[in-house]
Amino acid sequence: MDLFSPVTLGDIELANRVVMAPLTRMRAGAAGVPNDLVVEHYAQRAGIGLIITEGTYPRFESQAFVGQPGIVTDEQVAGWRRVAEAVHARGGTIVLQVMHGGRVTHPDVNGGRRVEAPSAIAIDGAGHTEKGKQAYPVPHALTVEEAREVRDDFVAASRRAVEAGLDGVELHGANGYLLHEFLSSASNQRDDVYGGTPAGRARFVVEVVTAVAEAIGAGRVGLRISPEHNIQGALETDRDDVLATYGTLLDQLRPLGLAYLSILHAEPAGDLVQELRRRFDGPLVANSGFGTVTTRDEALALIEAAHADAVAVGRAAIANPDLVERWKGEHPENAPNAGLFYASGAEGYTDYPFLAASRS
Ligand SMILES: Cc1cc2nc3c(=O)[nH]c(=O)nc-3n(C[C@H](O)[C@H](O)[C@H](O)COP(=O)(O)O)c2cc1C
Repeated sequence: MDLFSPVTLGDIELANRVVMAPLTRMRAGAAGVPNDLVVEHYAQRAGIGLIITEGTYPRFESQAFVGQPGIVTDEQVAGWRRVAEAVHARGGTIVLQVMHGGRVTHPDVNGGRRVEAPSAIAIDGAGHTEKGKQAYPVPHALTVEEAREVRDDFVAASRRAVEAGLDGVELHGANGYLLHEFLSSASNQRDDVYGGTPAGRARFVVEVVTAVAEAIGAGRVGLRISPEHNIQGALETDRDDVLATYGTLLDQLRPLGLAYLSILHAEPAGDLVQELRRRFDGPLVANSGFGTVTTRDEALALIEAAHADAVAVGRAAIANPDLVERWKGEHPENAPNAGLFYASGAEGYTDYPFLAASRS
């Protein structure tokens, strides 16, 4: 297979197999509304087969970053509508990553609200808030009833994303945020229906994904997971437990016929990812994680060897708005400026040059 060939993920037709990984950039202001700059940023990258937006909050409690966009208010929906129209006008496709930050936030980020998690266990560490760096608080352990409200907010957010004209949603089950916190035995120490065993820990994620698929159609829904990423305290150090937990999760999701499963793991071609792919039995989007920046050669090799159906690309897509054109023509690439990933304004966001500009 060829990285530059088209592929269909559920209801979404991609012109090529390069996927823009979800990338938090924190430029949506205090109201969390995608503005002109955000519209321009995504429109510039419409040549990528599928854009996954930055993690976007489905309820106020779940906001994890200052300047993060949401999909709660009418203004936020209107902002996303402008993004979707701009990307579609340039022939691209785009889905919204719906992200509940779980315990990885602070009341000085989420507007003074409670911090929600499966269990009342704080992460060791500090996060950036409106008042500088502060230690993460001990979160409120969601009751079963409250967890179902959160599930309903995932559904409402996903409906709003489709109403706004996006092609679908990616549910963020990775990187130590709420859904991942339910999966990991380090962050989930419940003894009710949502914990205790691999099946118990998987249950909340199964319910959220199933409810969203029923609401907007499974062909518009992807799920991102990062087993063994061991990030933000969502530790998964026992391979047998990981296989049991993610195996039962995917056994229950398989019949839904989701658009895709996106897996972030250091070894996409390794046993674990390929076993989870078999269990899911649908399109796989792969990403090898933060250790090294995804390269053209890595992406080409993953597709050529059929280890994945598409490749999620993060930092190279930040730095190269015309990434697919560059990779196709083997042109040189702009280098990402990590110091500006989470800055504000156009610098390091919309000012990376296009090929024509860099040649002249
Ligand atoms: C600035 C930045 C922001 C990120 N934001 C998100 C996010 O909102 N949601 C998510 O699932 N992953 C996020 N990630 C992880 C990326 O999607 C991707 O997995 C990571 O960058 C590794 O891929 P790469 O080597 O191609 O950059 C982020 C990574 C970076 C560098």
